[in-house]
Amino acid sequence: MKPVKVGLLGLGTVGTGVVRIVEGHQADLFGQAGSPISIEKIAVKNMAKLRNVAIDAGKLTEDPWDVINDPEIDVIVEVMGGIDQTKAYILEAIARGKHVVTANKDLMALHGPEILAAARENRCDVLYEASVAGGIPIIRTLIEGFSSDRITKIMGIVNGTTNYILTKMSREGASYHDVLKEAQELGYAEADPTSDVEGLDAARKMTILATLGFRANVALEDVSVKGISSVGKDDIAFGKRLGYEIKLLGIAESQDDFISVSVQPTLVKNSHPIAAVNGVFNAVYVYGEAVGETMFYGPGAGELPTATSVVADLVTVVKNLKLGVNGMQAASVFKEKKLKTDAQ
Ligand code: NDP
Ligand code: HSE
Repeated sequence: MKPVKVGLLGLGTVGTGVVRIVEGHQADLFGQAGSPISIEKIAVKNMAKLRNVAIDAGKLTEDPWDVINDPEIDVIVEVMGGIDQTKAYILEAIARGKHVVTANKDLMALHGPEILAAARENRCDVLYEASVAGGIPIIRTLIEGFSSDRITKIMGIVNGTTNYILTKMSREGASYHDVLKEAQELGYAEADPTSDVEGLDAARKMTILATLGFRANVALEDVSVKGISSVGKDDIAFGKRLGYEIKLLGIAESQDDFISVSVQPTLVKNSHPIAAVNGVFNAVYVYGEAVGETMFYGPGAGELPTATSVVADLVTVVKNLKLGVNGMQAASVFKEKKLKTDAQ
């Protein structure tokens, strides 16, 4: 059977995990997707770099356009990062009828509506499960699992790096800078970790979750953001003495005609389950009018957890190809609903 051909943009932390899962789980993926999946080309910045996964060097290119313009490639998996240039690659891929899987929350939080509109027009899938909460399937849960309900609140820890830092500062008295360095070495942090520690990464994720959960066009600038760079060991020790942990919480609420979204360090009572979410783990609470309270928990960053979400999206694209129903998810995302935000 002819395989579905994939072009990979990026072979860093997440890209390496994608190769490992696609190569290592071929039989399972075939069972799930109904077709073999083959990674045909991979764009990297530096072809001379040593890789910690076996790769046929002939598949590598330093020019992402080689991948985008290849007529043989059916699906682009973007795990490279970046915004403006990456948006150009993705829009061109869609214009060429290719389906896209991306882990890029920076891009989807800023340009999601435009990219999804292009996907709708071209009947392409653009799936981005890995962009929020790493290995937790929260995006498909919001789109599909809660399609019958009205979501009123989404709250949680959606950045692994800062939770890793706060946990180590709280439990081991470790220094902020040492733990941040560790999180970078473990592949949890963004290329520029300022976006993790200053709360921007969490704000981008909350923008995506609020948009999907409330079915409204929430913009990044509507989110009020404060990171953890000013949280010191003394703050953490003080909170602990009173029975609290400090967590970087994202909170999105929709009440009547009013939406508010914020990210800030928050004192969480020890008895609340969120206080026990430690290390790189994330947790997302979703409250629905009908369902009540639900909680989703799992690894929020890292090679294999994130790649699990990326490859699950890839399986969905391949299944959709078999059924001829690509572009359905993009079609269901942006129903217009006029809601006020904090900024108005
Ligand atoms: P890395 O920095 O580890 O990897 C980036 C990869 O992209 C590298 O292979 C790099 O090449 C390649 N690359 C960068 N710029 C270019 C370019 N201009 N042309 C060609 N190749 C390029 O990033 P991550 O894997 O950590 O993250 C990738 C994406 O996934 C980001 O959008 C990130 O926000 C997102 N993400 C990351 C998670 C994580 O846990 N790390 C979790 C969820 C999402 P080279 O190897 O040669 O340097
Ligand atoms: N830098 C991000 C985090 C990666 O630490 O959560 C996962 O999106």
